[in-house]
Amino acid sequence: MPSLYERLGGVYSIATVVDDLIDRVMTDPRLNANPLVDEAHHRVPPAGFKYLVTEMVCWASGGPQKYSGRSMADSHANLKITATEWDAFQDDLQQTLDKFAVPADEQAELKAIVNSTRSDIVAGSALGAHATT
Ligand code: HEM
Repeated sequence: MPSLYERLGGVYSIATVVDDLIDRVMTDPRLNANPLVDEAHHRVPPAGFKYLVTEMVCWASGGPQKYSGRSMADSHANLKITATEWDAFQDDLQQTLDKFAVPADEQAELKAIVNSTRSDIVAGSALGAHATT
């Protein structure tokens, strides 16, 4: 069975999907309602953000790329992302996957990869996390 990376169409297809997703996420009022996210979204240039997310998705789906960015825990630790904001992100992801007609099996595998990062990204959801008041 070819890797998910190959079934998604390799780096050109993945970069195209990430380009659309990041445009959605960076302008999503449900996410920018969080002032920490809004501030960080306007501080990082979209092209660099897209580069890093593309690299990560390529790497996580079995491509030859190596992810060179910070860990998901480090890069999201100070953003106080809520479960509701996570759901909004999932909705953006679904819209992008449907726009490019990614087949159901590949969608499910990609969403499983994204969901594996949830506890590192949503504030206070990491196993064993201590309340930080
Ligand atoms: C509600 C969901 C999410 C929000 C609001 C969000 C927001 C952000 C923001 C604002 C940054 C810039 C942080 C900074 O430089 O200070 C960032 C970095 C990043 N995010 Fe997310 N993110 C979310 C979910 C995800 C997911 C699911 C992934 C991948 C599976 C992801 C991958 C990345 C990567 C690769 C970076 C760059 C790390 C680096 O700078 O080295 N994010 N995110």
